[in-house]
Amino acid sequence: MIVRTLITFATSFLILYAYRALHIVTKKWSKLPRRFTRIAFLVLTFFVYITTTYISVNFETYKDTEALMNYTIVGAITLSVTVLSICIIQLIGDLILLFRYLKFRAKNKEIVSGGNEMTRRTFVSKMALAVGGVMLGSFLWGTTKGKYGWRVLKNKLSFDNLPASFDGLKIVQISDLHLGSFQNNFEPLQEAVEMINELEADYIVFTGDLVNETYTEAEPWINVFRKLKAKKDKYAILGNHDYGWGRGHEMTPESKQTISRGVAAIAEKMDFKMLLNEHTILEQDGEKIGLVGVENWGYSPQGWFPTEGDYTKASQDMEDVPFKILLSHDPTHWDHKIMGKENVDLTLAGHTHGGQMGIAIPGLFEISAAKFFYDRYAGAYKEGKQHLYVNRGMGFLIFPGRVGMPPEITLHTLNKA
Ligand SMILES: [Fe+2]
Repeated sequence: MIVRTLITFATSFLILYAYRALHIVTKKWSKLPRRFTRIAFLVLTFFVYITTTYISVNFETYKDTEALMNYTIVGAITLSVTVLSICIIQLIGDLILLFRYLKFRAKNKEIVSGGNEMTRRTFVSKMALAVGGVMLGSFLWGTTKGKYGWRVLKNKLSFDNLPASFDGLKIVQISDLHLGSFQNNFEPLQEAVEMINELEADYIVFTGDLVNETYTEAEPWINVFRKLKAKKDKYAILGNHDYGWGRGHEMTPESKQTISRGVAAIAEKMDFKMLLNEHTILEQDGEKIGLVGVENWGYSPQGWFPTEGDYTKASQDMEDVPFKILLSHDPTHWDHKIMGKENVDLTLAGHTHGGQMGIAIPGLFEISAAKFFYDRYAGAYKEGKQHLYVNRGMGFLIFPGRVGMPPEITLHTLNKA
């Protein structure tokens, strides 16, 4: 109760501190637009705060009403990010003004108030509102259109041990579809399938998490993903959610088995060949490379994730091939079991969704919430001669959107060095 009261007090304070920026900026506006803007800000922010808090507190009552849960998650995160960004810019501005004030006091100079101070304060408030506005706009876009803004990323890799006939091999990787989150909204993913087909890949690989909780979510999508075409073949593995991981404590070993085998059966109806702790040999002009797929193996200090993945078993009796590709859902598998331990040239993973939110300047800088949980959370990594690529996923989960972290289709092109 005390904690809840403190949170309420702190949140109300932050909303009012953010409101102060609006108050300053609208000071010279004419009466009607000024009043309307100020009242609209206060009513909207407190409405979202009170309703999302109420639904969160009564989680058990509303947890099965998906629209309300989505509203709560989006509302709470958008409100927090918008208000906090306004407050942080204002706070920086206020601290600078305070510092200037103390400096003048220390030098026993006369403090000039009015004109300049007010201009500076208005400038800071405008900056704060602009940043808040960008945040608000980004979240509204990300939860409506941005989550379907498919982005093709090209990853070119060269290997000196790649057999010559595989030079220029094109592999399209997709991951983390989480089909249950699309609520049978087929059109965006149909467009994604067309985009992928235009890439004319030799192979398409899916690196796990077809569903959120159970295999029935994927049934309506069979015809959509059957249309996904590769020149040669399509392969898939399972992710932690494909074992019913999203259902938490309800799960027994038997129900995990039922769900994972159900997901695999549906993926096969989508014309994917499953690699569940097994391998296949890809052949071209008499030359061969190995493609290995493991079941989910994920590390967390709490032991949260399934650890059925077994590279040793998957690569058992594999022909002696000069080059190996591994499909493994969780990138921690690479760190713990593959890197420096197994003779795997390229590992393709997913799982992190790139955090679904982030700030990125392509090629220069990228930060995401996933960075706090995963050392290797998105994109290409290399240690020695071993490569890992972590796909940012196509779907979304819990937070029904993507902000600054678009859904990804990766085109890997393998060249002989
Ligand atoms: Fe996932």
